[in-house]
Amino acid sequence: MKKFVEVLADKATLIERSQALVVEKIQSAIASRGQCSIALAGGSTPKPLYAALAQQNLPWDKIHVFWGDERYVAPNHPDSNQLMARQAWLDRVEIAETNIHPIPTESNNPEIDAERYEEVIRKLFTVSPGEFPTFDIILLGMGDDGHTASLFPHTPVLNETTKAIAVGNKDGQPRITFTVPLLNQARCVLFLVAGANKQASLEQVFAAQGDAMTYPSRLINPQGELWWLLDRDAGAKIDTPISC
Ligand code: 6PG
Repeated sequence: MKKFVEVLADKATLIERSQALVVEKIQSAIASRGQCSIALAGGSTPKPLYAALAQQNLPWDKIHVFWGDERYVAPNHPDSNQLMARQAWLDRVEIAETNIHPIPTESNNPEIDAERYEEVIRKLFTVSPGEFPTFDIILLGMGDDGHTASLFPHTPVLNETTKAIAVGNKDGQPRITFTVPLLNQARCVLFLVAGANKQASLEQVFAAQGDAMTYPSRLINPQGELWWLLDRDAGAKIDTPISC
């Protein structure tokens, strides 16, 4: 794993930098393998990044979009990560619906929908049982409690080692999420973290020693590249630059 940490002056600069990095990684994946698989983060931080990507002139037919986690709500629910990314980005570019792979949330059974999404991904990546698909890019945020995707502190999903997609939960509400082994199989994981409210957890995530069950973002160590793009409010106490 190669780790890179950059602290940017403010959120706008963070978004500009993340857009440039995502475009670079998309183009490099397409140059190497003819297409790019990207899994999106939810929450609020990446929304301006998605809006910026909507302004890019990219080979949309060679880009396949997934979600790293989803709230267990209908696709048109205001909390839906799918809805946010479609409104900010995907509805504004010429990308075929067959290139967009949302997490299903409508069988009334999160376990079934998680299994369905795993089947979709395994078919598209043609990996055998026991192997994990290798995404080109996985975007992640981090909550002020140190969670990422829907891997919340002290929840059973943190210990999942065989499924690629599983059911997480936030305060008892089900969510569907990439698991740690799937995230760690990625070629490039890119965290976008902004805001002073993330500072304390970031310190714990970056500490040499720490409890990954309490700060699940510590569990993310992909085989490829790990990028942390922080704004100054979030990364005030993080020594940079780190690239190792
Ligand atoms: C979600 C996200 C979640 C998010 C963090 C940070 O579904 O909400 O996947 O992991 O990335 O909670 O959220 P903010 O970007 O809103 O701070």
